[in-house]
Amino acid sequence: MTSDALPEHDPRFDSVDAVRDRLRSVDYLSDEGIAGIVYLADRLGKPILVEGPAGTGKTQLAKSVAEITGARLIRLQCYEGLDESKALYEWNYKKQLLRIQASRNEADSASWDDIEDDIFSDEFLLTRPLLEAIRAEDPVVLLIDEVDRVEVETEALLLEILSDYQVSIPELGTITARQIPLVFLTSNNTRELSEALKRRCLYLHVDYPDMEREKEIVLTKVPGVSETLADEIARIVRSIRQLELKKSPSVSETIDWARTLVLLGVDHVDTETAVATTNILLKYQSDIAKATKELTAEPAGVKRPGAPGAPAR
Ligand SMILES: Nc1ncnc2c1ncn2[C@@H]1O[C@H](COP(=O)(O)OP(=O)(O)O)[C@@H](O)[C@H]1O
Ligand SMILES: [Mg+2]
Repeated sequence: MTSDALPEHDPRFDSVDAVRDRLRSVDYLSDEGIAGIVYLADRLGKPILVEGPAGTGKTQLAKSVAEITGARLIRLQCYEGLDESKALYEWNYKKQLLRIQASRNEADSASWDDIEDDIFSDEFLLTRPLLEAIRAEDPVVLLIDEVDRVEVETEALLLEILSDYQVSIPELGTITARQIPLVFLTSNNTRELSEALKRRCLYLHVDYPDMEREKEIVLTKVPGVSETLADEIARIVRSIRQLELKKSPSVSETIDWARTLVLLGVDHVDTETAVATTNILLKYQSDIAKATKELTAEPAGVKRPGAPGAPAR
């Protein structure tokens, strides 16, 4: 089956700007690239593969799109060893056994063929997230989260769903989606995904936001933060991300840091405060040491006269 045979659907968004505005209304701050891909994915009926560093809002994007479209979010969290029985479906063996046993007591009335038809019917099927999304009658967003964690062979499970929105079950036949769900796959890029998988998806690289957008995210997500504080936070985080670190601070860590500073009643981040709280942003001692060195050398963004490394006035 080709995608021409897929069911038609009403577009969910009128324009790229509409995607952006609606995402903003649920506190997700996108940019042109993100909003554009979401718009296209809806129009073309294609899945989106979202790749980028951890904590840059990939999972949240799928959740927020579900929220603004009033769709149910169905999430498949990937992990090493994930298999068909947890991703697609499995037969309820216990119930099947009980059914077989029960039929024995029915004085041999049921033939094996009858029993077989019976135990491989819907009633004995345990539906897992992928099949659930395909069978859904209500609008759904399917999130296949951290797909880079499964083995390459397991990726193959996804191919039929991603291109044809259908699932083949040997005993039951092919189940085709009644509506095209919006599908997001996320990857933290820990390994290359297969060409076959990539070919079926639109590709979106989500990187750390630029300073302006990160400041806005902080202002949106952290109650009680002032414009100036948000600005300083975004500036310092950016300067820390420019260092060679084991693990750069993610957006979620920026938010945690901002919350911490607000809790501490800080309204201006000086070097001392920044150094004392870098453990909120960074989780490796070597990274903390590097950042501390950088921060004390040049009080990021806000240079006070007299502070070490600040230009003389
Ligand atoms: N563009 C954004 N707008 C609003 N919040 C964001 C954005 N990007 C990241 N966040 C915040 O960062 C948190 C972590 O994002 P998440 O989607 O879990 O990251 P990822 O899946 O990329 O590792 C989210 O819960 C959200 O609060
Ligand atoms: Mg995630």
